[in-house]
Amino acid sequence: MYLPQLLARAVKGEKLTVLTCYDASFARLLANNGVDVLLVGDSLGMTVQGHGSTLPVTLEHMIYHTDAVARGAADQAFIVADLPFGSYQTSPQQAFESAARLMAAGANMVKLEGGAIMLESVHFLARRGIPVCAHLGLLPQSVNATGYRAQARDAAAAAQLLQDAGDLESAGAQMLVLESIPSVLAEEVTQHLAIPTIGIGAGPHCNGQVLVLQDVLGLTPKPPRFAKDFMSGAGNMAAAISAYVGAVKTGTFPGPEHGF
Ligand code: KIV
Repeated sequence: MYLPQLLARAVKGEKLTVLTCYDASFARLLANNGVDVLLVGDSLGMTVQGHGSTLPVTLEHMIYHTDAVARGAADQAFIVADLPFGSYQTSPQQAFESAARLMAAGANMVKLEGGAIMLESVHFLARRGIPVCAHLGLLPQSVNATGYRAQARDAAAAAQLLQDAGDLESAGAQMLVLESIPSVLAEEVTQHLAIPTIGIGAGPHCNGQVLVLQDVLGLTPKPPRFAKDFMSGAGNMAAAISAYVGAVKTGTFPGPEHGF
């Protein structure tokens, strides 16, 4: 699937469903059960590799998993691949070289973390035909600076995030992940932007929702507050994925208990 088809769904007011995905079998399962976007997230550092953060994930790892997901989902789904820590932060040229390898492996879009500091790179990629998803709020690649906790909870930080969101859109970002921020702020950002916002711990007002697949399937020992185990009571994985898709599309997930 290409970006215009995906954006058309959001323009119609359809909530976009996103799940992380790291291999071909799950790519097929997710695409066959209505997931709009497969995110080859660098969360694979935790879910697949067993690390405590996303920092050890390399560009080679991301290429390997993007390639597997692309083969599994064929043309059915839209694939976003994370640029991993250290593969894009030094210059727009470095970002382009890394992004080009993910696109060649089958990604339809790349995702990178950060606000003002990323504007030049977002512009550089977008002008060269690489769709970019930005990521604001809790930035897992900056965990050593922030810890894993909700972000933008005071007025100054909220104003900065709103400014960054608008600037990223102006620079050419075509989608924005908002992670672990107050629901009211996510709502304001969503109203302020024309591009779709995808929330994770960001309340019900985003244009779409993303979760980590292992959290949805009940495989995470201590899941984050914003996650929901859709496997419980579902009977099988296909039913759990369909339940997630249904809950996001109809607006019954996330509930107030999943937000900040
Ligand atoms: O890597 C990942 O899973 C992500 C989500 C948390 C949005 O970036």
